[in-house]
Amino acid sequence: MNLFDIIYDGQAQYLKRAEEMVAKVVAEKGKETPVKFPGTAYALPCIYAITGKKITNVGELEDALALAKEKIHRTNYLQDALDAGTAAAMCAEIIEAVKYVYEELPYEGRHVEDLNTTDVRYLGHITDAEVRNFGVPLVTDDIPGVAVIIGEAKDAETLAAIVKDYQGKGLLTFMVGKVIDQAIEQKIKMGIDLRVIPLGYEIESVIHVVSVAIRASLIFGATPPGDFLAHRTYTKNRVKAFVNVFGPWDNKIIAAGAAAIELGFPAVTETFINEVPTLLLHQPDNSKVVATSLEARNIKIKVTEIDCPVAVSSAFEGERVRKDTMFAEFGGNKTECWELVTTGELAEMEDHKITIVGPDIDDAMFAGKDVVRLPMGVVVKVAGKQMQKDFETVLERRIHYFTNYIEGAMHVGQRNIAWIRLTKEAFEKGFRLKHIGEVLYAKMRSDFDKVVDKCEVTIYTNAEDVKRLGEEMVKPIYSERDERMGALTDESVDEFYTCLLCQSFAPSHVCIVTPERLGLCGAVSWLDAKATKELDPMGPNQPIVKGEAIDERLGIWESCNEVVARDSQGAVEQVTLYSILEDPMTSCGCFECICGIMPEANGVVIVNREFGDTSPVGMTFGELASMTGGGVQTPGFMGHGRFLIGSKKFMSAEGGLPRIVWMPKELKDDVAERLNKAVFEMTGIENFADMVCDETIASDSEAVLEFLESKGHPALAMDPIM
Ligand code: SF4
Ligand code: NI
Ligand code: NI
Repeated sequence: MNLFDIIYDGQAQYLKRAEEMVAKVVAEKGKETPVKFPGTAYALPCIYAITGKKITNVGELEDALALAKEKIHRTNYLQDALDAGTAAAMCAEIIEAVKYVYEELPYEGRHVEDLNTTDVRYLGHITDAEVRNFGVPLVTDDIPGVAVIIGEAKDAETLAAIVKDYQGKGLLTFMVGKVIDQAIEQKIKMGIDLRVIPLGYEIESVIHVVSVAIRASLIFGATPPGDFLAHRTYTKNRVKAFVNVFGPWDNKIIAAGAAAIELGFPAVTETFINEVPTLLLHQPDNSKVVATSLEARNIKIKVTEIDCPVAVSSAFEGERVRKDTMFAEFGGNKTECWELVTTGELAEMEDHKITIVGPDIDDAMFAGKDVVRLPMGVVVKVAGKQMQKDFETVLERRIHYFTNYIEGAMHVGQRNIAWIRLTKEAFEKGFRLKHIGEVLYAKMRSDFDKVVDKCEVTIYTNAEDVKRLGEEMVKPIYSERDERMGALTDESVDEFYTCLLCQSFAPSHVCIVTPERLGLCGAVSWLDAKATKELDPMGPNQPIVKGEAIDERLGIWESCNEVVARDSQGAVEQVTLYSILEDPMTSCGCFECICGIMPEANGVVIVNREFGDTSPVGMTFGELASMTGGGVQTPGFMGHGRFLIGSKKFMSAEGGLPRIVWMPKELKDDVAERLNKAVFEMTGIENFADMVCDETIASDSEAVLEFLESKGHPALAMDPIM
């Protein structure tokens, strides 16, 4: 068989199975039975993107089959073979969708948070919220690429080496087939948070990663459903994915490969099939697979040499350390734990000086103890000609990430509520406190090379030092910074900043970052943007010299309009910074929260990405989020960061914070302090958060209204919102 015949045959096998499954489900469940994947607002996302049709029930699966068949033309033209790949993908999505008709969780363990120590293997469908979670790390190149591994490697060790290599480089790895068992055998740390994602055993489950790529195009790219060429262009140019096939292949794997190639994802095979330059590559040498794959997709990895006995990679950021695997603990309400970045004098500092003051985790006093528990104070002292005091907080916040990157370390919180855990495994591999210093040193020097010329790290573990320095040195610095931050308002500065980072996924999206309005991803504050401009002068954050406002209430500046028009390539000509209704700022897709109007309450609801249920406006986060995004202005909907709830500029044109009528409880508790303070200063109302409804009180419109009335919520008495 030649390559085309192989693809056609593979595609025919998917079609046959899909037809059988659809016939069965029609007979057994009836045509009206709903068909859906959990947690997505895009129906069957691949079929929706390819054809523009939302498949919502069993009867419509028959239409989907017909649409797939329209793609099939057995000729010897390459495009027809690739179309057959697309048809195969559509059939695979139909097959997977039927699985979800029969069972709520056809993939065992979908809801198990951490696969690390359980025997749960497969994840199947990935939700919209999870896709959105990948947004920021993808645009910042924190996730530099996406690997899809299919088949069975020669032996488990080889597979493990490759997966660990990808993980160590921060890539997102999806696995299909027996490679999953091999990874389990080798105790690879798996789970969506660890960037190694076992999809499923059957080849059809590969559609769930295709669905991730396609939804990136729908969500971040705002690519119209049905314009498959535009979706292909998007995935090819913006989703840096590739496929690795191990072991013997069959025709179905090759047909899936054709679908991948059609999306612009090259396939690298261990067993020879054929070679198509840049698209289908043969690499029999397992030790070269990673290099070949990265090269095929032009993925460049920045390496930082770090003296550390365990891996240090952004992939380990989401790793949890639980009690049963924990060796040592610092902070977490049991001991004191704080961290600080300060600026020193260049001439007085000794670069790469790492000092531990107090006992280390292998101290004799811990012999026989269940867990090593110590207080900790971390001082990172930096100096550089371009260093500014304002950057200290920016660098300090990175301590959280850098420490988390350590395989076997968990870091929660910041400042003097930091909490660190280390695993037994890391200890056994030789990890000691000085390695925390090494990691912080290396990352500060490499990530902030433009401003940090010298860096010293001191770690205190003596209770006395930690307490004394915490009081005398650290707290006064925190308060001084808080005061300075509090005084930083949109009026008090001359420059705002653009952020164009998300343009790699949402080409016309521009964030304008001001002191009182951080980027909608929550990750870029005005100070961050200012520091980034210093670190990377031609980079994504550029100053906008503010000038006179055209309209202060709505927040319109000539300067902002000009910059947005230019940087969105004319897609958006006018933005307001303080209105949700008139020319609101666009959203890309990676926002932490979405705000939408609840007309009957004369206010707005806010839903955060972590919240899975339906809000009082009848939509989930995902459904609300799907109303906006991709750099398009959608009046009435606004993506934003958590921290904006508490800013007096939060849709201030429409009355601001007192308009908030409903939030999930977790979000409300998180923002309550700042929110209460701001609303009090704006209106004199105390404990405003108590007037805001949440899901533990009510989620249906009528009951929410009753609650608001009983509390005398201020929104009810305000001017009509629309
Ligand atoms: Fe994306 Fe805006 Fe965050 Fe920049 S500030 S990373 S553009 S969401
Ligand atoms: Ni970690
Ligand atoms: Ni974004």
